[in-house]
Amino acid sequence: MTSPVPIVVPVRLGPRSYEIRIGSGVLEGVAEFLQSKCAATQVVIIADRNVREPYAASVFHDIQSRGVACEILEVPSGESSKSIDMAGDLWEQLCAWGAERHVVVAGIGGGVVGDLAGFVAASYARGTRFVQIPTTLLAQVDSSVGGKVGVNLSTAKNMVGAFWQPAAVFIDLSVLSTLPEREFRSGLAEIVKYGMILDGPLFEYLEQNTADILAREDAHLQHLIRRSCELKAIVVEEDEREESGRRAILNYGHTFAHAIEAVSGYGHWLHGEAVSLGMVVAARLAERLGRIPADVVQRQHALLTNLKLPVEKEDLPFDKILAAMRRDKKAAGGQLRFILPNRIGAVELVDQVPIEKVREAWEQA
Ligand SMILES: NC(=O)c1ccc[n+]([C@@H]2O[C@H](COP(=O)([O-])OP(=O)(O)OC[C@H]3O[C@@H](n4cnc5c(N)ncnc54)[C@H](O)[C@@H]3O)[C@@H](O)[C@H]2O)c1
Ligand SMILES: [Zn+2]
Repeated sequence: MTSPVPIVVPVRLGPRSYEIRIGSGVLEGVAEFLQSKCAATQVVIIADRNVREPYAASVFHDIQSRGVACEILEVPSGESSKSIDMAGDLWEQLCAWGAERHVVVAGIGGGVVGDLAGFVAASYARGTRFVQIPTTLLAQVDSSVGGKVGVNLSTAKNMVGAFWQPAAVFIDLSVLSTLPEREFRSGLAEIVKYGMILDGPLFEYLEQNTADILAREDAHLQHLIRRSCELKAIVVEEDEREESGRRAILNYGHTFAHAIEAVSGYGHWLHGEAVSLGMVVAARLAERLGRIPADVVQRQHALLTNLKLPVEKEDLPFDKILAAMRRDKKAAGGQLRFILPNRIGAVELVDQVPIEKVREAWEQA
């Protein structure tokens, strides 16, 4: 199959507007962009060790061959790299290399490196330009868009950070060929989420093309990533700094997911896997509250199952999940709040949900 033509999704944020380029081979355009659009004289690539070869290395060579000073700083793979210690190491390395205020920082990797590199860019020399080159499906449809950057504290994920929009996002479909299967499916869960919260036709597209999507066909990937980025961009444009509450709809399934991840120990469930189960429970909860009919619950369950995502809670006890949810930042004044579906393609923030209903929904999964 021939590669689809690259497409551009704009993110309109006034002076912080930028473009997301999506296609097979768009990595080859990074060096040109940095030179002609950013007039970059210095570029520092912060790369996940797993993707240094071949992706970061090829971008590095392209930049160098244009006579622009470039350095690669490698970061070990995994969530533990998203730390203030690692940010500190990177600040020191940038400084030792001679990076100035006008340096452009490029993050190449999944959400871990994107969040970390973005945080380093937001803070080094009081803020430098930043380019996102996401290499996991999850980062391509979610974390690379919207400008949230940051690191974890030992007891709290994403607790220190900033809103720092990139100058551009380059989403190369071909890098997904090396992504492990579980990581790939984990990204699909976030796409199901976009369908549930905003876009019934996207949900139907996932239902109708499941096999080809799992086979990672470029044309389908491009469509799914494009639509996800467009939807995330719409939400971010309405609520860039999470002030109006609009951005909260992106957390559909996530109150449960964060609790699942915390209770089972980070890493046991991949984030998207936890989101999958979280959406199953959230839909059941909506049904119990009389908000949606059973067939909506069933359709979502069937789609997640066909995408080979987890839909069962295994042995996670409700009391621990509840305690973790109460600690979550969305539990306002001890009240549990959830983003719940009204139908496929529309959700709402629901306050004061009775705990017994939550327990029933959980026990059913
Ligand atoms: N900023 C945001 O808005 C936002 C949104 C969602 C998630 N996040 C953050 O994203 C992080 C999770 O991101 P993730 O799921 O991408 O995890 P990740 O960055 O840990 O990547 C997952 C694994 O895939 C490997 N990998 C990456 N690209 C690869 C490729 N092309 N081929 C082979 N292996 C590859 C990585 O080395 C890693 O082992 C979390 O820290 C989460 O908090 C941020
Ligand atoms: Zn998520």
